[in-house]
Amino acid sequence: MRLGIDFGTTRTIVAWADRGNYPVVTFTDHDGDSRDHLPSVAAWRGADLVYGYPAMHLAATTGTPLVRSFKRLLASPSVTPHDTVEIDGRPYGLLDLVTGYASYLRDALRTTSNIRDGLTASDPIEAVVAVPAHAHGAQRFLTLEAFRRAGFAVVSMVNEPSAAGFEYTQRQGRTLNSKRTRVLVYDLGGGTFDASLVRVDGTDHDVLGSLGVNRLGGDDFDEVLAECALASAGMARTGLTAAQWTALLDQCRDAKEGLSPQTRRIAIDIDGAAADVQVEDFNDAATGLVLQTVDAMAPLVGGLSDEDGAADVAGIYLVGGASGLPLVPRVLRTRFGRRVHRSPHPAASTAIGLAIAGDETAGYSLTDRLSRGFGVFRERDSGHEVSFDPILSADERVSPQGRSGGLTRTYRAAHNVGWFRFVEYTRVDDRGQPVGDLAPFGELLFPFDAALQADKDLADVPVVRTDGGPLVQETYSIDPHGIVHATIADLDTGYSRTLALRAG
Ligand SMILES: Nc1ncnc2c1ncn2[C@@H]1O[C@H](COP(=O)(O)OP(=O)(O)OP(=O)(O)O)[C@@H](O)[C@H]1O
Ligand SMILES: [Mg+2]
Repeated sequence: MRLGIDFGTTRTIVAWADRGNYPVVTFTDHDGDSRDHLPSVAAWRGADLVYGYPAMHLAATTGTPLVRSFKRLLASPSVTPHDTVEIDGRPYGLLDLVTGYASYLRDALRTTSNIRDGLTASDPIEAVVAVPAHAHGAQRFLTLEAFRRAGFAVVSMVNEPSAAGFEYTQRQGRTLNSKRTRVLVYDLGGGTFDASLVRVDGTDHDVLGSLGVNRLGGDDFDEVLAECALASAGMARTGLTAAQWTALLDQCRDAKEGLSPQTRRIAIDIDGAAADVQVEDFNDAATGLVLQTVDAMAPLVGGLSDEDGAADVAGIYLVGGASGLPLVPRVLRTRFGRRVHRSPHPAASTAIGLAIAGDETAGYSLTDRLSRGFGVFRERDSGHEVSFDPILSADERVSPQGRSGGLTRTYRAAHNVGWFRFVEYTRVDDRGQPVGDLAPFGELLFPFDAALQADKDLADVPVVRTDGGPLVQETYSIDPHGIVHATIADLDTGYSRTLALRAG
C-alpha cells in the first residue's frame, strides 16, 4: 500500500490509493474520536518530545505549552541539516524534531489509523511526501531524511501545489479541454502560500512556473483576528503574557475556522474580557493578506485576463485549509470572476494528489521546476573580488520520475584554489545579483594546484593566480527530489570533490 503524506504546518494529512479512489486516512485521537488528520504539534514530556494528539492531550491536561507550526523552522533561509532549534526555550536538533514527528506518524498509521490492518509491522511504509514548491535544498533534504530515518520508504517527493494539480485533474478534468489547457493552483495553507501554473494534457502535467511566499498562511489570519479582538476589547498585545497570547490565537483559529459567509460577529474571550469583533472589520484587516497572495502570483498570469494571454487558463484552483475562509474566494472572485474553483476538500487536496502520484496504475506524469535559482559566489582576482555567477534558473526542469535539468562547464583554472560559495535565491536583479530569500547552500574549496590535493584545510591557503592550471569541470545535477548536487573535477588528475547536503 502506497501513501501520500502531506506534512503541513498545522495538519498532516495522509491519503492512499484504493483501486482508483484516493480516500483520506482517518486516525483515532486521544478521546477515541475519528479524525482526518494529525495535528503538526509537539510538547515536552520530561526530557522527551511528544507529538500530535498525545501532545494536545498533555497540553490540555497539564498546561504544558504546545509547540505549533514547527514546519516553519525548516523554511528559514539559513537552515542547515545540523541546526539546533529552540523548542519552547530548550534546544533540540531540527532533524531530530522532524524525525520524531515522522516516527509518531508512522506509529499512528500502524496503531490508530483506519488502514492499520493493511500495514505490516516489519515492512517500511511506502510513501510519496510533499514539500512547498519553493522549498530550498536544505528543507527538501531535511524532510526526506527525517521520513527515511523514521522508517518510511520515500518513493518520491512532490511539490505541494503540483500534487494538488493532480487532484484537480482527477476531480475537475472536464473543465480542461483543447482550448483551456492550464490550471493555476492556489495553495494557502497554515504557514505557506504557493501558486503553480500547470499545463495539463490528459494525465501529463507540466508545471510552467511556481511562485510563493514562504511565510504567509492561515496562522497570519489568526494573528489579524487576535489583533482585532484586542482592539475591540481596548487591550494591547503587550499587555498579555506569552501564554495568554497563545490561548487567544488558539481561540481565534477556532473562530476563524467556524466562519461561514453568513457570520456577522465573532465573540472572543480574552482572559475574562469580552471582545466582539465585526466580521466586516476582520475582513477589512485581513484583505491585505489575500492581496499579498494575488501580488505574489501575478507574474504567472497577471490579471488572468485574455490580454495577459490567460484565455487558456481553465481555472484557479483554491486548495489549502486557509482558502476555506470565505474572504479568500470572495476577494479572488472580485478579481478573477468565475474561473475561481474551490476544492471540495481544500485541506486534503495535496495528500490526495500525492496518493495519485504514488499510484502507478493511475498513469499520471509530472515535470516540475526548480522554483528557485542556484548560483555561486566565486573569489576572483587573487581573492580581492567576489563575483556572482547564476548557474541554474528557477525554471530548470525537475522530473520526479525521469531526467532533470542540469549543467556542465569546463574551463582552465586560473588560480591555485577555487573557492565556491553556493546559494539558492528567488531571482536575480537587473545587475545579475541574486535577490529574494537568499539561502546559503554550502561551500566548496577546491585545490586546482594538484600539490594541494592532500590538504584537508584549504581555507588558510592564500588564493593566487597561476598559469597553466588544470582543465576543470563543474557538474550541476538536480536529483528527482529537486535537490542540486555540485561536483568539481580536475580532469587532468581525475581528482574531484562533491558538495551534497548531508546530515551530521
Ligand atoms: N474552514 C476553514 N476556514 C478557514 N480557515 C481554515 C478552515 N479550515 C482550516 N483552516 C485553516 O487552514 C490552515 C491549515 O491549512 P492546511 O491544513 O492546508 O495547512 P498545512 O498543510 O498544515 O500548512 P502548509 O501547507 O502551509 O504547510 C490553518 O490556518 C487553519 O486554521
Ligand atoms: Mg499544506
